[in-house]
Amino acid sequence: MNLPRLLFRYPGGKFYALKLLRPFWQNTPHDEYREVMVGGGAVFFDKPKVRHNWLNDKHEDLMTTYRTVADPELRGRLVELFEKEVATKERHAEMKEFIPSNDFDIALKFFYLNRTSFSGKTRSPSWGWRPVRSLPPNRWKERIRPCGEKLEDTKMTCLDFEDVIIAPSLGASTLLFVDPPYFLAKQENHYSESFSENDHYRLAAVLEKTSHKFFLTYDDCKEIRELYSFARISQNRFLYRIDNSRNRGGKRKYGNELVITNYDHEKALEC
Ligand SMILES: C[S@@+](CC[C@H](N)C(=O)[O-])C[C@H]1O[C@@H](n2cnc3c(N)ncnc32)[C@H](O)[C@@H]1O
Repeated sequence: MNLPRLLFRYPGGKFYALKLLRPFWQNTPHDEYREVMVGGGAVFFDKPKVRHNWLNDKHEDLMTTYRTVADPELRGRLVELFEKEVATKERHAEMKEFIPSNDFDIALKFFYLNRTSFSGKTRSPSWGWRPVRSLPPNRWKERIRPCGEKLEDTKMTCLDFEDVIIAPSLGASTLLFVDPPYFLAKQENHYSESFSENDHYRLAAVLEKTSHKFFLTYDDCKEIRELYSFARISQNRFLYRIDNSRNRGGKRKYGNELVITNYDHEKALEC
């Protein structure tokens, strides 16, 4: 299976863990799929859609951009504008100052900064587009068009995770993918939405009660192992691009990550 082409560059994105994560949805029949904290949506863009699909993230500009790209007419306008766009330090500085007055402009600004900033960070972004290595603006349509088409007919919301987890099933069997910020990492540099210690505890409490199936990824630490002692925990090792790759020559390193579920992903279940 090929790796998907993603719409965004996203800090903490699960692109490098896709091979490891596939068995968790492939062996688990479901007719409703929810990504509770979608971010760059690496898993959504990798997996075939099912009957009901729901993407959520607390990050408003991110979800506004997804909705804009999902709309065929707005998507066409974005592609047209980016055909004539330039990736320069000056234009990046101009975009940083630009104050959007509608959803389309929010998407325009978000996408431009995501594609041209270091590590795709749109919060306090610094110039990071590199000739040859980075995709030029006239090729951004190669991401916008296929991703936008996949996003059509998908429910997209900007809610707190708890509202998405507790919502009743629309189909016979619902599968949730939950990818919260790491428990031990310093989040303030990565995400617009901060995730407090209490949010980690609140997430565990709501997942313990849910009747939906879930798979959840976390950094491997004793606090998380204790918090999810009610569930199945598998420890995994995968290659990922380190955050400050600028200082390490763009290398990748191995990370340990937990995948936590309330079902047996190695056994095909009846839907
Ligand atoms: C690790 S990232 C998800 C990365 C994603 N799986 C990917 O492949 O790109 C965590 C996400 O949680 C979102 N988030 C933070 N607090 C949230 C909340 N209370 N409810 C929903 N989403 C939240 C952040 O905006 C961020 O996009």
